[in-house]
Amino acid sequence: DHQADRPARVLAWYDRHRRKLPWRAAAGELADPYRVWLSEIMLQQTTVRAVGPYFEKFVTRWPDVSALGRASLDDVLRMWAGLGYYSRARNLHACAVAVLRDHDGMFPDTEEGLRALPGIGPYTAAAIAAIAFDRCTMPVDGNIERVVSRLYAIEEPLPQAKPLIQQMAATLLGPSRAGDSAQALMDLGATICTPKKPACALCPLNDDCAARRRGDQETFPRKAPK
Ligand code: ADE
Repeated sequence: DHQADRPARVLAWYDRHRRKLPWRAAAGELADPYRVWLSEIMLQQTTVRAVGPYFEKFVTRWPDVSALGRASLDDVLRMWAGLGYYSRARNLHACAVAVLRDHDGMFPDTEEGLRALPGIGPYTAAAIAAIAFDRCTMPVDGNIERVVSRLYAIEEPLPQAKPLIQQMAATLLGPSRAGDSAQALMDLGATICTPKKPACALCPLNDDCAARRRGDQETFPRKAPK
């Protein structure tokens, strides 16, 4: 059993296959907290593909959180038009104003500090803390839920299984590079460990995967009957 080197295998896979996304830093560099925050808010209910052009428009017009905090809400809402879920745009603006006013234009570098800001819940706080500040925490989104529930063949259904999945997801964090570990699992879920017909032959965890061993990968994550 090579459970102990799972984090290293996930990172090695990421180093070879990481997707180039506009908010990601070059390999080996920490990402800009502003860009990580903006992308995570946009990605909450919107696909990577749809977010791309909006992300570029925003960072061109407002290159840092101070610029966004000085913009008018109306301008932000106009720029957001088409992305949907407009409460995200209102919170985005409120958050930029708060970072400018209360934090000198610098994002807090802890999950707790981040969670105190408008529009930043537990997932987004963990994502920013890991990706921008290399804090040892695992943000668990839908993709990571699928990867982890398959790896451990977690029988408990969602949403009850969320705390267990969070706990098991943390076993995939190594001693460093938490943000890369998180983004590796996001990419793995998006490109390999897909809801239908996962490409297990290409997965760096295929030897460890309890669901694959049983041959019922697609049945995870279990869902509570409606
Ligand atoms: N979905 C949410 N955050 C993401 C990220 N940082 N990379 C890829 N997909 C994501």
